[in-house]
Amino acid sequence: MRYIGNKTKLLPFLGSAMARLGIAPGVAHDAFAGTAAVGRALKSAGWVVHSSDLMTYSYVMQRAYVVASTIDSFDELAKADAPVGGLFVARGLAATQRVVGAERGIGLDSTEVVARRLSAVADHLANGVAPSEGFFAQNFSPAGGRMYFTDENARRIDAARATLHDWRRRGLLADDTFYVLLAAVIEGADRVANTAGVYAAYIKQWQPNALRALTVVAEPPIRTHARCIAHQADATQVAETLGSIDLLYVDPPYNTRQYAGYYHVPELIARGWFEDEVTLRGKTGLIADKEQRSAWCSRREAPNALRSLLSATGARHVLVSYNSEGVIGDKELRAILADAAIDGRVKRFTRRYKRYRADSDREGRRYKGDEVRELLYYARLRRGGEGPK
Ligand SMILES: C[S@@+](CC[C@H](N)C(=O)[O-])C[C@H]1O[C@@H](n2cnc3c(N)ncnc32)[C@H](O)[C@@H]1O
Repeated sequence: MRYIGNKTKLLPFLGSAMARLGIAPGVAHDAFAGTAAVGRALKSAGWVVHSSDLMTYSYVMQRAYVVASTIDSFDELAKADAPVGGLFVARGLAATQRVVGAERGIGLDSTEVVARRLSAVADHLANGVAPSEGFFAQNFSPAGGRMYFTDENARRIDAARATLHDWRRRGLLADDTFYVLLAAVIEGADRVANTAGVYAAYIKQWQPNALRALTVVAEPPIRTHARCIAHQADATQVAETLGSIDLLYVDPPYNTRQYAGYYHVPELIARGWFEDEVTLRGKTGLIADKEQRSAWCSRREAPNALRSLLSATGARHVLVSYNSEGVIGDKELRAILADAAIDGRVKRFTRRYKRYRADSDREGRRYKGDEVRELLYYARLRRGGEGPK
């Protein structure tokens, strides 16, 4: 998903820093999960991951990419929903049913068959269900007065979302599968959103991506036996509950833009049924976000937020991703980390990268050209009673 601070492209940088530091897999807290890109990579590398974020869409992605380990066979769905059953047959999947059955007899299911079924069901959500008028068509399409999605795509999003919730209500999908498919709808909607990458504004002419038909592409989950847990909560509150862990990964907002105001559309797609409860404000249809506003976006509050998080965590190692233009300056960030470190030492790794396109020179931000430096700080932390204060 197009997301400010998405670390997908920086994963090799993060991985090589961890290798150089000799940090081996254990229990990690991805405290500002966003798209869950980091939690997902940690899980693949053998970590047990706890992740947290304030936003509902992030919780959905954490459930899909970090927590989910298995996917239904979709037998119940195929039985109950004839068009979906028909889809399996049409794609030649019925013939493989025997294989799945035989493997289940020895406690296995077939990854390939399940992945193909998942892809067929995701495709059905985008193309097999008749587009219908719902909340997004009424509020986030030209018919609703806002050009976020074409009328057709908004009606497809409504239909996909309604179908998914209906299947869940009827007990036809396991929780993991529900979140994998809902994350796929959020990501699909993002691909056809008529924005420059964030939802703070829509563009007044249709962009080429917005004119494409909605696609829903589901990612099969990473299979491990590790029990990973997602939290929709404040990072510090979650850190307090985790006790001793091995790694705290901190990737907070680094400027004054609140994610709640920039991603209200995915937030609405992610939430449960709410049409009667939600009030949309203004030209872009913003929602009340008092509970989701972050102290990390404030120059005044961010340094104390970092201090509180470091004293709440029971992690042995902390890695902090930050940006050279962040609200906490380099000197202050190092001082706060040094204070929490067992030996007073802080290491810093740097990577230059091209600025994310949705970042523009507004709101008094001080941008210096097209390149930004991504900074990664490391400290070995004191844990309960360890080392000098
Ligand atoms: C830079 S983004 C993280 C990006 C993420 N690492 C990724 O790769 O997608 C910062 C995230 O912090 C979340 N956030 C802001 N304040 C928070 C808080 N107090 N506790 C937990 N998450 C918070 C935002 O919602 C946002 O998703």
